Amino acid sequence: MILVTGGAGYIGSHACIELLNAGEDVVVLDNFCNSNPASLDRVQEICGKPLVVVEGDIREQAAVEKLIIEHGCTAVLHFAGLKSVQDSVARPLEYYDYNVIGSHRLLRAMENTGVKKLIFSSSATVYGKPQFLPYTEDHPLNAINPYGRTKLTIEDMLRDQYVGDPTWSIGILRYFNPVGAHESGLIGEDPRGVPNNLVPFVAQVAIGRRDRLNVWGNDYDTPDGTGVRDYIHVMDLAAGHVSALKLLDTPRCFAVNLGTGAGSSVLEVVRAFEAASGKHIPYDVKPRRPGDIDAYYAATDYALRLMGWKATRTIEMMCSDHWRWQSSNPNGYG
Ligand code: NAD
Ligand code: WQD
Repeated sequence: MILVTGGAGYIGSHACIELLNAGEDVVVLDNFCNSNPASLDRVQEICGKPLVVVEGDIREQAAVEKLIIEHGCTAVLHFAGLKSVQDSVARPLEYYDYNVIGSHRLLRAMENTGVKKLIFSSSATVYGKPQFLPYTEDHPLNAINPYGRTKLTIEDMLRDQYVGDPTWSIGILRYFNPVGAHESGLIGEDPRGVPNNLVPFVAQVAIGRRDRLNVWGNDYDTPDGTGVRDYIHVMDLAAGHVSALKLLDTPRCFAVNLGTGAGSSVLEVVRAFEAASGKHIPYDVKPRRPGDIDAYYAATDYALRLMGWKATRTIEMMCSDHWRWQSSNPNGYG
């Protein structure tokens, strides 16, 4: 039985599909602070298989221990946490509480119940300002905002834990920019409030929930002047977790990029989304967003060598799958 923390969220729900399809049993622990339990009904509908859903908080260590024992969990995929860079600047203590203290309590609960296999959702944001590109996994780590520092702190805690007890097996997955949705259109990203991220915002313009996109700067050192990122289809990302999980039978601690290796600019994404949706996306160019970096993308050879995994879906597929979800669920899960 695999414990999936934060499994009702955007990436966790897609990972649950890949886990169930790989024949794993799944128990999700989620407090639904940024998700809707309906996502997990849809996951079960897609897979034609049940999973167990427990409403609860990773910071409740005793409850997590009880859950692990009751369900006989043998490994943990840890997605639960807060993820907005902007909110983390305004409310850093909340981010340290959910992310760092939450992960610490989860690790304690695992230690006390003898569960030593963990996959952790980290982020390319731990690399900070690029000293070279593509980011290889040995690029210096230098998070530049509170959210990123919580991820880096958790990474450090995990590396320390492995040194302290090398019978643990820990996979740290550094996601680049996850977009898209399951090809059924039944599940997808459902941001609360105004989306911070590019593709959810573009999708809401396309569906008519927002008037125009703000393009944050067109004077970057990139081919068309707009920011370049490594967008990765969420189902490729989900598959990466199943590949990583297979490695945990042997004690180890590794950190690996999950990206495609290719960058797309903001305007390239807008054009791909227009083509996928048949909708015009009006936009205004605005000043740069504080803290944004010109361009970054992943080195992908280590993921291939280590796990035999690579992303296969194109930016066109990311946009058309995202659009299928958005257009069949204009208000998300409602
Ligand atoms: P999400 O907000 O959709 O999912 C997170 C889930 O965790 C939600 O269902 C939320 O309700 C739950 N949760 C939060 N705090 C909890 C707690 N204390 N106890 C129990 N459940 C809790 O976010 P996502 O996009 O699916 O991201 C999943 C993970 O991947 C996060 O750790 C995030 O930092 C990381 N990540 C995300 C991105 C991205 O761009 N989406 C990129 C890199 C890394
Ligand atoms: C992408 C590009 C923007 C919105 C963030 C986090 C990162 C990770 C992924 C969790 C940039 C531009 C955006 C808009 C725009 N999350 N943009 N108008 O900033 O690369 O990464 O999400 O770990 O930590 O920082 O993603 O989608 O916000 O921006 O022009 O309305 O789109 O300037 O160039 P980002 P994003």
